Amino acid sequence: MELTKDVHYKQTINDLKGPKGLPLVGNLFQLDKIKIHNQYEDWADEFGELYALNFLGRKVVVSTSPINNDFILKHRPTKFRRFSKMAEVIENVGIDGVFSAEGDVWKKQRQVTQKALDSKNVKSFFPKIVLVANRLEEYWNTLIASSQNKNHEIMHDFMRITVDITTLLAFGYDMNTINNKTDPTQEQIAKIFPKINERINSPLPFWKYIKTTSDKEFDQALAHIKSFFGDFISNTNQKIEDNPELLENPSNFLEAMLASQDKENPYTWEEIFGNLYTMLLAGEDSTSNTLSWVSYFLASKKDVQIKVQKEISDLLAGNVELKSFDQLKLFKYTSAVIKEAMRMKPASPNLFMEANEDVVIGDVLFPKNSLIITQLSKSARSEDHFENSQDFLPERWMQKEEGCPFTGRHNEKALKAFGGGTRTCPGKLLAETEILVFIITMMKNFDIKLSVPEKEIIEKYAFTMSPKNLFVEITPKEKKFK
Ligand code: HEM
Repeated sequence: MELTKDVHYKQTINDLKGPKGLPLVGNLFQLDKIKIHNQYEDWADEFGELYALNFLGRKVVVSTSPINNDFILKHRPTKFRRFSKMAEVIENVGIDGVFSAEGDVWKKQRQVTQKALDSKNVKSFFPKIVLVANRLEEYWNTLIASSQNKNHEIMHDFMRITVDITTLLAFGYDMNTINNKTDPTQEQIAKIFPKINERINSPLPFWKYIKTTSDKEFDQALAHIKSFFGDFISNTNQKIEDNPELLENPSNFLEAMLASQDKENPYTWEEIFGNLYTMLLAGEDSTSNTLSWVSYFLASKKDVQIKVQKEISDLLAGNVELKSFDQLKLFKYTSAVIKEAMRMKPASPNLFMEANEDVVIGDVLFPKNSLIITQLSKSARSEDHFENSQDFLPERWMQKEEGCPFTGRHNEKALKAFGGGTRTCPGKLLAETEILVFIITMMKNFDIKLSVPEKEIIEKYAFTMSPKNLFVEITPKEKKFK
């Protein structure tokens, strides 16, 4: 190992402890892909906040410490980057965008993404979120009317509405997948993420040599989506030519990207495609998983569900509709329920980083190209940072002046559901707004309860973390308050 001379450290990643593996392959075959985040958490109990795994002779360090993770996430894109293998898989399928980009390319793409998702745009987008939420309400009424309201896999509804929201925001297209369930594009989109996840986790790039049926389906899905987006890109180009004022005031993310074409450093077709797709991927899974986990807690904790319904009934007296973005800040308890669900069930439990240079974290030297998993769910669910960490206590997120009875340990920095530092999720405000609007619409009109025993609902990791076997019964809300 070649070391930089002027860095000070007591140990290197080779000195870190970790689970004993097999000769040559190391820990590779000990991993349970769908529970990988739980394994990382359990190993931290045994080996501490910084420990090392070995995959085919390559060290991968897992960090669960909020201080170290903060440092790593803050020092991007300088000292750290995302795993280069992940970027490579994404680039190979031609959908690289702001999530996988690095350096100056990332800076340029981040700027336009952040702008498209800023508070001004999210506020003006609010009526569209309400529109999609109302469609979901109508759909659930039809489920009840046709007695299909039991054993309902609620996560599929959330996947549809989050795709609808993102396509509306990204290129102004109303997919309306709640009503058009067999939309071919939606079907193709659903095939992309699992395959990318499978390839990122594959020890060798088998797909480069042998194409399985699912690899061929994946290629077809990608071709379909490229042609679908291609039509949008050329139509939007035409629209801008016909309405040059859009260059100054773009109305969606695609227009904003195209509007910058005549400037010094224009976007390539691949960058535009890659970023449209990145928005879809980044906006769908994490948001629909979070909505599903919030629903899981509401369905399994009747007292919490009733408190949320009471808050909604008090704030929307007379059953009036949500009217403005600013109203949302009044829903303090419901917001605290969402935050607590994100603490106990973070949709992105692991982020994958690589050192761009030799760097010392604590007293440990990480040589250039070291791989580090910033493991986020351990600290969020740990007694070291949150008192009664295994209990669902929304009150811990209420401000004191709102009558918060919670007095226990509370380290906000240990919760990083949206990542951190320069690359913090730019969709945070949009996601929080969507989730709150959907939960208010749901709890204003319906009661939900689990259709399966609670212990059968398990955490399933596939790049993001979702509830497996979450089936609920949806019924019209019983009248509980005056
Ligand atoms: C509850 C919902 C969401 C969660 C939990 C979530 C979480 C995350 C996390 C953990 C990251 C990585 C941050 C880092 O590396 O520090 C991320 C990145 C990102 N998210 Fe989200 N996200 C959500 C919703 C959204 C939405 C709705 C959008 C847009 C429509 C979005 C767009 C992005 C993008 C573009 C990135 C890459 C940013 C970059 O690398 O600079 N996310 N998100």
